[in-house]
Amino acid sequence: MSNLTIVDHPLVKHKITLLRSKFTEVQQFRALMQELSMLLAYEATRGVRVEETTCETPLMKTAGHLLSPGKIAIVPILRAGLGMVDGLLNFMPMARVGHIGLYRDHESLKPIEYYCKLPDGIANMEVFVVDPMLATGGSVAHSISIVKKTGATRIRFLCVVACPEGIECLKKAHPDVDIFTCVLDEKLNERGYILPGLGDAGDRLYGTK
Ligand code: PRP
Ligand code: URA
Repeated sequence: MSNLTIVDHPLVKHKITLLRSKFTEVQQFRALMQELSMLLAYEATRGVRVEETTCETPLMKTAGHLLSPGKIAIVPILRAGLGMVDGLLNFMPMARVGHIGLYRDHESLKPIEYYCKLPDGIANMEVFVVDPMLATGGSVAHSISIVKKTGATRIRFLCVVACPEGIECLKKAHPDVDIFTCVLDEKLNERGYILPGLGDAGDRLYGTK
């Protein structure tokens, strides 16, 4: 699994344990999701392109590097991916944000698309597709296909919980995409939920159940 990075830092382990707990309420769940997204973003932005520049310290002029404005796109998969956006924006406030709306059909587990709005010029940007859950992999594989149709090539996928079935699906569909996750769980259950997982991420983020 060469293009898979599991960010198994002690801070991540601590926060993911709190996030999974069924006793964690919606407000704390949201905060933890944002914090975990920041920690993922730190790891996933390692290879991002920077522009050389100069800056003046109080003592002298020196060389520096800056992220290029207008060269980074964050693309959450609705709904649950929205819970990760602010975590990434904290580090990259200049990023553009696109949205892909998908939900999983409960019977077939196939993604049903209902919305798509991507930033102009995304073809030349570093694209961070985000969704906390990589289950069957159908939703992410479909979303990345949509992003690729724009001509974008530098695409990374960030999730909080993944499972082997989702990783296999995504690697088969998009072997060029680097995957970053906080944890790699055991397996899917018969209803397509990740075990041990954290339940339905969208419902837990928005308190809908
Ligand atoms: C969840 C999750 C992913 C998808 C993962 O969304 O946020 O998008 O399931 O499943 P997959 O890997 O099997 O495709 P859901 O369909 O529940 O929609 P929601 O975020 O609107 O609740
Ligand atoms: N979507 C979720 O929100 N949770 C899962 O475990 C699987 C898909």
